[in-house]
Amino acid sequence: MKFKENLEGVNVIQKNDDAFVFDKAALDVLSGLEKTREDFWNLDNTSANLLSLLVKLKGSKNALEIGTSNGYSGIWLAQALKETGGKLTTIEFWDNRLDVAVENFKKAGVNDIVETRLGQAVMILEEMFQEIYPQKNVNEIDDKAFEDATNSRSEKLFDFVFIDANKSEYIKYFNLIHPMLQKGGVIVADNILSHYKKVEPFVKAITDNQNYQTQLIPIDTGMIAAYKLE
Ligand SMILES: C[S@@+](CC[C@H](N)C(=O)[O-])C[C@H]1O[C@@H](n2cnc3c(N)ncnc32)[C@H](O)[C@@H]1O
Repeated sequence: MKFKENLEGVNVIQKNDDAFVFDKAALDVLSGLEKTREDFWNLDNTSANLLSLLVKLKGSKNALEIGTSNGYSGIWLAQALKETGGKLTTIEFWDNRLDVAVENFKKAGVNDIVETRLGQAVMILEEMFQEIYPQKNVNEIDDKAFEDATNSRSEKLFDFVFIDANKSEYIKYFNLIHPMLQKGGVIVADNILSHYKKVEPFVKAITDNQNYQTQLIPIDTGMIAAYKLE
């Protein structure tokens, strides 16, 4: 079943003119952004709603998004995180686009729980990695180092990561995210079907990795969801 692209036709978001997932301000922002979706490479609302459900089902507290664009998926994530008492960090390297996202987060009333990071995703992930594992290299992170980080710096580890930036870099993102993802954490990545050749190294790495239970979700451009086993 394919939901209508038009927000107003999707009753999980809006029913009888009364928004019951989003308040009016957020709904107005999302409705506006859906009209320019193609220009900003935003998720469709079915995929965004699924992300929101996964955040809520997981009870995520510390989520990361790679690829903010104008903030469309970020608003969905942040609304879900408001319910779980969590926060969102979102990375974008295009300054004009990030400025637009910041405005949209404000208009949607979620800016208080969203931290934006401007820059190349790999560089920002490396900075985050260094905060958790000072002076270490990704290849040096064994079970003991991960356990130490889990015990002493757990608030820095993510429990939900959404990947939606440079498709050829997904594998680099994954290699950096893996040691920064809590056990029981979730990774969702978009464009698995639409850009399979580019994301293939990532898909192979995560599906072959015995730490993860994975599932392709064939909606819109195709997502993969992965759960880091306890
Ligand atoms: C598909 S769009 C993200 C859409 C957004 N997640 C949504 O659904 O609303 C990808 C975004 O990632 C950004 N991007 C691409 N490569 C990047 C990189 N290496 N580092 C940071 N951001 C990047 C692009 O500028 C673009 O805005």
